[in-house]
Amino acid sequence: MTPTRRCVCPGSFDPVTHGHLDIIARATTLFEEVVVAILHNPAKRGTFEVPRRVAMVQQALPQELADRVRVESFGGQLLVDVCRQVDAGAIVKGLRGGTDFAYELPMALMNKHLTGVETVFLAGDPSLEHVSSSLVKEVHQYGGDVSALVPAEVLAALDELG
Ligand code: PNS
Repeated sequence: MTPTRRCVCPGSFDPVTHGHLDIIARATTLFEEVVVAILHNPAKRGTFEVPRRVAMVQQALPQELADRVRVESFGGQLLVDVCRQVDAGAIVKGLRGGTDFAYELPMALMNKHLTGVETVFLAGDPSLEHVSSSLVKEVHQYGGDVSALVPAEVLAALDELG
């Protein structure tokens, strides 16, 4: 099998956090191209419309990564089909701890079973271990300060929610 040049960083990104951005940036040190794939997770009720999620990731990406990272949304599709569509041989995911691993492992094994696509797990930055989109939204909703955990455009979008 030819080694892959391109990976997919999949997720709901509802909204993107500094935890996601750390994993995307580190994926560019391993792969020539990174496709950030914004997918619907049937287990989660969405907060932001998908085009807004795409825009927030694009705005938050550092300029130096812009030509090697593209952000796209996909609907009603398996992640393995997204990988085929964009010709990516690997999926990159961040792990904050054992709970993430327990959630991610069956998906990684299923994706491998379906098409042979590999999943690469990166150890999340320990300083961001507590950061998830859902916790950020909840804390912000009740007036907590999440400004160090999300990019400025996400903070503004959270403020708009009220
Ligand atoms: O950020 P999330 O919500 O943890 O991301 C989960 C996501 C969207 C990557 C996962 O639900 C997914 O891969 N959805 C696409 C549909 C699919 O392929 N499901 C089978 C996974 S084995």
